[in-house]
Amino acid sequence: MVSEVKLCGVSLKNPVIPASGTFGFGTEMAGWYDLNQLGAISLKGTTLEPRFGNECPRIAECPEGLINSVGLQNPGIKAVLGEKIPALRKIYSGPVIANISGFSVEEYASCCAAAGACEDVDIIEVNISCPNVHGGGMAFGSNPEAAAEVTSAVKAVCPGKPVFVKLSPNVTDIAAIARACADAGADGLTLINTVLGMRIDLKTRRPVVAARYGGFSGRAILPIALRMVNQAAHACPGLPIMGCGGVSCADDVLEMMMAGATAVQVGAENLRDPMACSRIIAELPAAAAKYGIDDLNSIVGII
Ligand SMILES: Cc1cc2nc3c(=O)[nH]c(=O)nc-3n(C[C@H](O)[C@H](O)[C@H](O)COP(=O)(O)O)c2cc1C
Repeated sequence: MVSEVKLCGVSLKNPVIPASGTFGFGTEMAGWYDLNQLGAISLKGTTLEPRFGNECPRIAECPEGLINSVGLQNPGIKAVLGEKIPALRKIYSGPVIANISGFSVEEYASCCAAAGACEDVDIIEVNISCPNVHGGGMAFGSNPEAAAEVTSAVKAVCPGKPVFVKLSPNVTDIAAIARACADAGADGLTLINTVLGMRIDLKTRRPVVAARYGGFSGRAILPIALRMVNQAAHACPGLPIMGCGGVSCADDVLEMMMAGATAVQVGAENLRDPMACSRIIAELPAAAAKYGIDDLNSIVGII
């Protein structure tokens, strides 16, 4: 079975990628399995300056998923480029995706410029969809003009590096946002980020996460992600998509590819089962054979 896929010329030995924020900077997971099995790795969301993230508690368990309000805790771009990526490169030789967030167009641009200049970064993933920070993230991903403005600012400073824009599901018209990013020069799209949600602790009569609301993800959101990946694929024919949301097994990867994804990210499932990506990669050939698929590229966007 042919499992190799290409994202803007970057070759992935298979389409399976741990999603940003659920796999640290890779080294944290190296005790579980050889990371070189993976198609690529999307690193924890990174900002220009270090961030401690939101107040705890910032996780609420839910049936078939979880709510997080981590709030982009990260050591800042300097430490990611100077320490985290070099440490990862000692044990992993596949494609690295730098996931970048910001609070202004200028911050996105300077952080992406630094990441883009790093030869160990293969793809830039611009997160305009984080629901857990105020005045940044999702604010840019909920409006076509703002999404386009960030996209063109980042493209201008990342010559020669593929720029994927990561979209939010918390919008009414995903096709309009996807098209705005494509028109502004995005080389590809990643979707979806988490769905804004809430849990309430009945004993304390308070929201479970201190930030009140958080991002819901995990198995329960697969149908939403499939629908939005399919809408984005139809809105932007030919634009590569990394599909994300609720993927927990090889069958889900195949569904995501049929919906329009060239590669597939696995998020919350890594928190439930640290072996998830390795297990899914191992399951893929048998799952493909079961449905008569001999080349994964042949099913991308067939729906
Ligand atoms: C604990 C946690 C932290 C996350 N942090 C980030 C992040 O830093 N940047 C980002 O783009 N997405 C982040 N995400 C969103 C995931 O990458 C993914 O888009 C989302 O969880 C949907 O996929 P899933 O249902 O497989 O989890 C985070 C998700 C979780 C659960």
